[in-house]
Amino acid sequence: MARINDNYLKLQAGYLFPEISRRVSEFTTANPDAQVIRLGIGDVTKPLVPAVLKAFHEGVDDMAQGVSFHGYGPEQGYDWLSQVIIDKAYKPLGVELKTSEVFISDGSKCDSANILDIFDLGNKVAIGDPVYPVYNDTNVMVGRSGQADDKGYYEGLVYMPCTEENGFAPAFPSEKVDVIYLCFPNNPTGTVASKEQLKAWVDYAIESDAVILFDAAYEAFITETDIPHSIYEIEGAKQCAIEFRSFSKTAGFTGVRCGLTVVPEELMGTTESGEKYSFNKLWNRRQCTKFNGVSYPVQKAAAAVYSDEGWAQVKEVIDYYMENARIIREGLSAAGIECFGGVNAPYIWLKTPEGMTSWDFFDKLLNECFVVGTPGSGFGPSGEGYFRLSAFGDRANVETAVERIRQKWGK
Ligand code: MLT
Repeated sequence: MARINDNYLKLQAGYLFPEISRRVSEFTTANPDAQVIRLGIGDVTKPLVPAVLKAFHEGVDDMAQGVSFHGYGPEQGYDWLSQVIIDKAYKPLGVELKTSEVFISDGSKCDSANILDIFDLGNKVAIGDPVYPVYNDTNVMVGRSGQADDKGYYEGLVYMPCTEENGFAPAFPSEKVDVIYLCFPNNPTGTVASKEQLKAWVDYAIESDAVILFDAAYEAFITETDIPHSIYEIEGAKQCAIEFRSFSKTAGFTGVRCGLTVVPEELMGTTESGEKYSFNKLWNRRQCTKFNGVSYPVQKAAAAVYSDEGWAQVKEVIDYYMENARIIREGLSAAGIECFGGVNAPYIWLKTPEGMTSWDFFDKLLNECFVVGTPGSGFGPSGEGYFRLSAFGDRANVETAVERIRQKWGK
């Protein structure tokens, strides 16, 4: 019989969001009349904006005629999409990129997992705690860790606690590492890094020959003008960082699937014999072998996000979600619940009332308020005692959820 990948058995629980769905569906089956409000997984609720839909339709129509039909596209994505992203999303930040450094994909979740293909298993990896579970679990899956201890920390991985005491900003790892995951605006805490903080990380990575995997999936939700949107706004970052971006939350593509990864040509690693080698070349090789590109109509739709009309419409939706974030943050804070994030990110990270554990609060919130959120401990041991609410809901639902929580726990 074929051997399984035993590393999967080290994973302690099912993936967080399916586990939440399981509990919610158990509850709704038992309580079919309950008006459940879902502020758990960060899934968008607003439809695609008209300019994007129009381009999407045109892309599909192109596929209906021989002259405009598209078969396999470039594995790296069409140059016209990479170029519009460079011109509209990076140039205004003062960041120059080549199309050969931008790889279009079916989303940043997949990319942030698949990127491990181009790193040797012997690399030491540092991740935040709490953290987007994909970073931790994929390192366990590929065999970079031992077993988890009773707190949930996996042997062999280096954790950087993000707590109220350090303002949810990870401290430099306590030992030499080769790969560092950073996510700003942060999922799950909703906090951001200033230019000075990112500069310190870039300097640290260069000095210690480490690569930063920078997840910028939520950059479009930054409202404060002095917060960096890209790690490449920091001098030297092209030598030490790979950046992931996503159309999922920015433009409502969670069900459409499109994202991108930037791998600068100057980013080098070393071979077994100590010679320098380009990560860009490796990622290109990986994508050409394992990926056949994003569908043409989806790339047409993605390009339309950056048209003047498209961006104005997308921005309106982002503002709508950020107004939800304000309503949650201010409403709960006024009720005496301590809240973080929600200013430059669509997530509010709150301290569970009455010192409840994250999962106890999840169950109480579901059973007594019919509101679904995400337990902080699902993102790592340092998330215990915290809870994440997503701002991607419908306005009326968000207001009702805040009111129900205030009535139950408000002071
Ligand atoms: C989340 O809720 O953390 C995200 O929706 C998950 C994801 O983007 O994969």
